Amino acid sequence: MKRNFLPVILAAAILITSISVTACDKKSSSDTSVSIPVSSDTPVVSDPASTTPEAGTTESTEAPTPTETPTPTLSPTPSGTPTPVPSPTPVPEYIEPILEGGPAWYDGYVDPRTVRAEVVSDPSDIAVLVNKYYASPSWYVPELVWAKYSADQRLRPEAAAAWEEMHDACMADIGQDLYLISGYRSWETQTASFNNAIPRRGLDKAVCKNAYPGRSEHPLGLALDINIRSDPEIRDNFVYTEAGQWVLQHGHEYGFIWRYPADYGSVTGYGVEGWHFRYVGVDVATEMYLNNIMTLEEYYGKPQILPDAYNE
Ligand code: DAL
Ligand code: ZN
Repeated sequence: MKRNFLPVILAAAILITSISVTACDKKSSSDTSVSIPVSSDTPVVSDPASTTPEAGTTESTEAPTPTETPTPTLSPTPSGTPTPVPSPTPVPEYIEPILEGGPAWYDGYVDPRTVRAEVVSDPSDIAVLVNKYYASPSWYVPELVWAKYSADQRLRPEAAAAWEEMHDACMADIGQDLYLISGYRSWETQTASFNNAIPRRGLDKAVCKNAYPGRSEHPLGLALDINIRSDPEIRDNFVYTEAGQWVLQHGHEYGFIWRYPADYGSVTGYGVEGWHFRYVGVDVATEMYLNNIMTLEEYYGKPQILPDAYNE
């Protein structure tokens, strides 16, 4: 007898197919790369960091506009410490001798016309050194004011103020009426003074007492030839009078020094002048006074250049 197995085979085939589909669905539900349909009333939790379109929303066919990458701002290049520019060493100017033959000495004093002088770089410096070897430039004219207690003389304002103070202090202290005989002198006046002195007193005396143009402190407005009002003449013995002694003791308190002391001619280049004082400012004058420095040349370490014969 022949059995019909067809219905059995068909039933078995249906059963196997059903089992296979169930296994595939199970695997797919765990695969996160597959979209899960969500009903419209299911709340959607979106990942703000994700660029994947939200599930259940209509996916745009347009490529998302890329967010522009911000251009990095260039951080400024550090400027670093500026390299200091060395200031050039000033080249001194010189005034060459107008008489040939080398330095000519007369009784220990050199003729300024026979020496080479360096032009000072700052003639307005209140403590500038001017002598036969350091000259002020001819163009330099300081600011000037009329000085009190004077024979219509002018001085630099700083010197005039200090002079007035010193005068008043001297008057208050010892009752002496200091008097300014000669203050500022122009280049022309100084030239005439030197040129007239040669025939009047002889070359040796002229180079000892009269300054050549540019080698005098008077055109700086800082030199004062003084005495007392009752004796308005320049006198070598002024420093030995009561008024002169007071100025020697107290002058530094107001910024003054005695400029050409006795026995320092070989240092200053000029003979003793008991009447000539110089305003250098209180600091320099006081330093000189306290350290017993008698001349501005020694203060600067620049005594005049003596010939070998004087150094032996
Ligand atoms: N008597 C001084 C040196 C001058 O003329 O400056
Ligand atoms: Zn003088």
